[in-house]
Amino acid sequence: MKRPWWEDAVFYQIYPRSFCDSTGNGIGDLDGIRAHLDHLSWLGVDALWLSPFYPSPMADFGYDVSDYCGVDPLFGTLEDFDRLLVDAHARNLRVIVDWVPNHTSDAHPWFLQSRSSRHNPKRDWYWWRDDRSDDEGGFGAPGSAGRRPNNWLAAFPGVGKSDFPPAWTWDQETGQWYLHLFLDHQPDLNCHHPEVQSAMAGVLRFWLDRGADGFRVDVVHAIGKDPRLADLPDDLAAIPMCALNDDPSTHPILARLRQLLDGCQPPARMMVGETVLPSVAQIVAYYGSPDGKELDLAFNFHPLRSPWSARSWTRRIDEAEELIGASGAWPTWVLSNHDTSRHRTRYGGSEARARAAAVMLLTLRGTPFLYAGEELGLEDAVVAPDRRVDPAWPGRDGCRAPLPWDAGPGHGWAGGPDAWLPWPPEADSGRTVVEEMDDPDSTLNLYRSLLRARRGSQALRAGSFTWAATDGDVLAYRRKQGRDVRFVAVNFSDSPSSLDLPPGPWEVELSSARAAADSRWDGPSPSGRIEVGPDEAVILRPARAAQLDRGR
Ligand code: GLC
Repeated sequence: MKRPWWEDAVFYQIYPRSFCDSTGNGIGDLDGIRAHLDHLSWLGVDALWLSPFYPSPMADFGYDVSDYCGVDPLFGTLEDFDRLLVDAHARNLRVIVDWVPNHTSDAHPWFLQSRSSRHNPKRDWYWWRDDRSDDEGGFGAPGSAGRRPNNWLAAFPGVGKSDFPPAWTWDQETGQWYLHLFLDHQPDLNCHHPEVQSAMAGVLRFWLDRGADGFRVDVVHAIGKDPRLADLPDDLAAIPMCALNDDPSTHPILARLRQLLDGCQPPARMMVGETVLPSVAQIVAYYGSPDGKELDLAFNFHPLRSPWSARSWTRRIDEAEELIGASGAWPTWVLSNHDTSRHRTRYGGSEARARAAAVMLLTLRGTPFLYAGEELGLEDAVVAPDRRVDPAWPGRDGCRAPLPWDAGPGHGWAGGPDAWLPWPPEADSGRTVVEEMDDPDSTLNLYRSLLRARRGSQALRAGSFTWAATDGDVLAYRRKQGRDVRFVAVNFSDSPSSLDLPPGPWEVELSSARAAADSRWDGPSPSGRIEVGPDEAVILRPARAAQLDRGR
């Protein structure tokens, strides 16, 4: 059976505000993305995921949508989107768009209507609740803290705060509370309501008809809620509900959406869900079952939270293999995204580690998601207090810094140097796309070589995964599909380590540390051992296959 394209693909996440500004307002836009499609083809990714570009008051930079079927003027127009899609498809790049079903903006007409009166037909499109009564343990004046309908907390501590705020906001006009798992500007939709479901199906059809290849579904595990909205037990009550909600009612909603996508012409549209849940076993459930397929892919962020440690990564890989892989589902791998410090920053600023991690990301069994800028080896920007814009604390501005395209003062952004956030470190000293393209040993060229190696190897894309004998700080694994085989070794320590190879001969196809022109790349290892340097990762391939390759 032919594998679905998303299992073979490498995705590239674009946060539109931060990619490239074509208009001069300091904010990236759709035309800025379109201008760089050739570069993305050169890099060798297969699909783009665009974070929200819909009309929005931007309280959460677009994750507060006020119109699901439009483009915010900051980013361009619907025609710009259509052009972007046509040009991407012409280069064999698929495009998936972000879909935010858990909540709208409080400026969305649906919420404005819902809020307007208790009797509005859209009142139940959101979660409205009365004060907690005395019988239910409520106390104090109407609309005061002691009367909140339950003890749930929202995400995002306010600036400088460590506590999560309550997930309820009192509406004075209609005398009820509304639920929001994120900002008070992001009221939660009642996704159980048949009219909400059909409105949302219309939204999906709108983008599918325009040719989108699928959706990244925002906080998908939160859309179904137990209508009792019961208090969380004390031991969980300090955790925001968006990181816990895992109600079974989400699954039938997703199964219906799956059918919608499957019935689409042309077919092969996909859904990848953001499933931020405490355990991998919980995440697996969102792939559905053979009788009721749901998501095609689900994000597993446990590895992303893993420190640079062989022990921790072994555990994360085992979990993915045993819980996701063994169930027949296809894992995902992510090192960086728009919500988390970039992986180089998390790994102590070490570019060597970031490069070795990239080798792992692109050789594990599953679909990798890159976050624009990681291929340059970017670190988070340092954002002074007066430049902070993220409503969350301690903030996600650093990983959302604008992408530096060239060495000029505006780094290829039409507005010059004054972009919406400060530039990442080293943007003025060579860490730009153009300069890294010219350096064969840059991180950009490493990613390009990795993507090429992956494209050229069935084993890396689709093959089985088996651990090879590993020792202490070195992880080693084999990927195999038919006669195609690769051996990958990753050294997590700051000293070199020597490793036995399976019967060979082997040769190094790619290393995260050795210069591209290094002569040690040639020839099998005579001793059957390989030395892997500090924080280095290598891909080995059978020497004979390599020679055949060269002869082609
Ligand atoms: C997701 C997004 C994040 C956003 C949140 C609320 O977690 O990735 O950026 O703030 O949902 O929509």
